[in-house]
Amino acid sequence: MSQPVVTARACANIALVKYWGKRDTALNLAATDSLSLTLDALTTETTVAFDETLATDELVLDGHPAKQEEVERITRFLDLVRSEAGVPIHAKVTSRNDFPTASGLASSASGFAALALAATRAAGLTLEPRALSILARRGSGSAARSVFGGFVHMHTGSRNEDGYAEPVAAVPPNFLEQLRMVVAVVGGGVPKTHGSRDAMDHTAATSPMYRAWLDLVPKDLATAEAAIAKGDLEALGELVEANALAMHASAMAARPAIVYWLPATLGILAEVRGLRSSGQPAWATMDAGPHVKILTTAAAAELVQNALVDNAGVTAVTISAPGGPATIVDASKVVSLT
Ligand code: DP6
Repeated sequence: MSQPVVTARACANIALVKYWGKRDTALNLAATDSLSLTLDALTTETTVAFDETLATDELVLDGHPAKQEEVERITRFLDLVRSEAGVPIHAKVTSRNDFPTASGLASSASGFAALALAATRAAGLTLEPRALSILARRGSGSAARSVFGGFVHMHTGSRNEDGYAEPVAAVPPNFLEQLRMVVAVVGGGVPKTHGSRDAMDHTAATSPMYRAWLDLVPKDLATAEAAIAKGDLEALGELVEANALAMHASAMAARPAIVYWLPATLGILAEVRGLRSSGQPAWATMDAGPHVKILTTAAAAELVQNALVDNAGVTAVTISAPGGPATIVDASKVVSLT
């Protein structure tokens, strides 16, 4: 029996309207729909080799053997692939993040999107993009969106097969091309204090603001997608910043509070407001960490980068264009040992 060794690449995505909370933990179905932009500068490349000689799954992350809990999460995910493909053998997974900061595969949308593609192909399955998105979701909700490029809409779904992402249909020509996301890394990429998975569960369970968040998201999605359909960057940017602040407000109101921001986070938010008041297109968004991503244009991206790079506590500032879908980089047959 021989299995191909497959390498896949996927880009990270940044949510423009956030996913924050689940309706089904076992199936990892989101409580609400969400909307994202895939980014070409932040990628994960993952190689999967199923190998009959392995007694357990192995995971090498950015050149180092992964922690036990990361291997266990990968094993649970590979179990889904094994049962669908009927391949009952363990795999060696080698994954490398090309990010301005190290951020483990466990929290990485690009990580599970690349793993879903590489593992299914290595197990002999060729899934349609929608089925791949559903599978990637089981690893990490945001990973379902990284299967696709550009603007992506994720459906909450009430059953496993309804929880998938797909590209936003109505995008005016050249709108995506003019966009950039400036990623400002705060605090040197220290590991985050609360993983998004636990933090969203804790927010849903204890925050008096969580109900308001659930009510807000459908309205914000409609506003954001109407802005995209019109190619109205200002309307989109305002909505993106407001939605991120609302997500963080719901987390900050959890008991005990979840506060991801560091002083530099607030410094960047003030800088972004200053850029806007001087007429520059710049709107901020933050996820489950202190880093800030700024939605802007290709024309203004360097100016935004220069305005942020000297802020105290900012350790790297990267400009990213919109990215494409997850792809196979290499798939070669190997000769089996048996
Ligand atoms: C704040 O996709 O990491 O980045 O499904 O539990 O793995 P799990 O959560 P994850 O959560 C992402 C949260 C967010 C917002 C977003 O990307 O939509």
